[in-house]
Amino acid sequence: MTTPKGLKLVERDATGVDTAFRADVLDGLAEAQKAVPARWFYDDAGSQLFEDITQLPEYYPARAETEILRGGAKEFADLIGPGRAVVEFGSGSSVKTPLLLSAIAPSAYVPLDISGDFLRAAAADLAAKFPGLPVWPVEADFMRRVELPAEVDGLPKLGFFPGSTIGNMVARTATDLLRSMRETLGVGALLLIGMDLIKDEDVLVAAYDDAAGTTAKFNLNLLHRINRELQADIPVAVFKHEARWNDTYARIEMHLVAQEDVSFSVSGQRFGLTAGESIHTENSHKFTRRTSNTLLAAGGWEPRARWTDSEQRFSLLLAEARAPRSAP
Ligand code: TRP
Repeated sequence: MTTPKGLKLVERDATGVDTAFRADVLDGLAEAQKAVPARWFYDDAGSQLFEDITQLPEYYPARAETEILRGGAKEFADLIGPGRAVVEFGSGSSVKTPLLLSAIAPSAYVPLDISGDFLRAAAADLAAKFPGLPVWPVEADFMRRVELPAEVDGLPKLGFFPGSTIGNMVARTATDLLRSMRETLGVGALLLIGMDLIKDEDVLVAAYDDAAGTTAKFNLNLLHRINRELQADIPVAVFKHEARWNDTYARIEMHLVAQEDVSFSVSGQRFGLTAGESIHTENSHKFTRRTSNTLLAAGGWEPRARWTDSEQRFSLLLAEARAPRSAP
């Protein structure tokens, strides 16, 4: 895949293997706690399964955040004001983005996504729903500073990062991302960001281990993908999906746990797990009001306002990129 600027986003070797995927899997499986970065969940099957997850009765975050976006329209309009260029980190979802855009009368919409296909589909969808709103999609890895289209130079910006995706990063990575966003958007920008809240452990675990087994399928799909794309022979049936609460870091972890001793090869390298050992595939950090404020501040964003749903399950925060000050 090639961007207009000629930057290659997916590098493939002569046999068509995505070299970044292979490197991440081989490195991750060589670690003491085996792990594969969560970004590799999202092949076509994984993306579809994720859509299904957002519809599950146990998976409250999507519904809670949508409730906040619906209920907050008037306050968003007051606090954010009209005329901002909305820069969405990730291509817009069919429900959330239109709710925000219709609340605030923006001057432009700039979705950023690493997947060009998703991005173009989402941009076309949005443009159709908001005739007259300029849409400038940018294919880019938003973990680094992104060069925004010249058309939005000089416009005030609002970053939008829903879904508690920030929670899928460890604190250090989340802080790096918030700082990159600040560089992308500039001083004076606002950021509207979703963060899931700490709550009853049973409720949290059920959200990531649903009765219908959809999240299990989503997690196990990663092993199928490795088998398909990286010349691997992982016996998928030996692995069981598990969602566990890590109280030290206030996060749900998803693991694939070997039910018996197992060995397999990936791209010519051998790996083994003993029964009970796992491959760690995802973190989903949960926050309180104070921990979310601290994370924002660490990334250079000053908290301005905060909304939760009627059951206090999820939070949406508005923050501002203030000029750095030298205070302690
Ligand atoms: N960021 C959301 C969350 O952590 C969505 C998400 C990402 C997710 N990966 C997931 C949900 C895996 C369920 C399973 O909740």
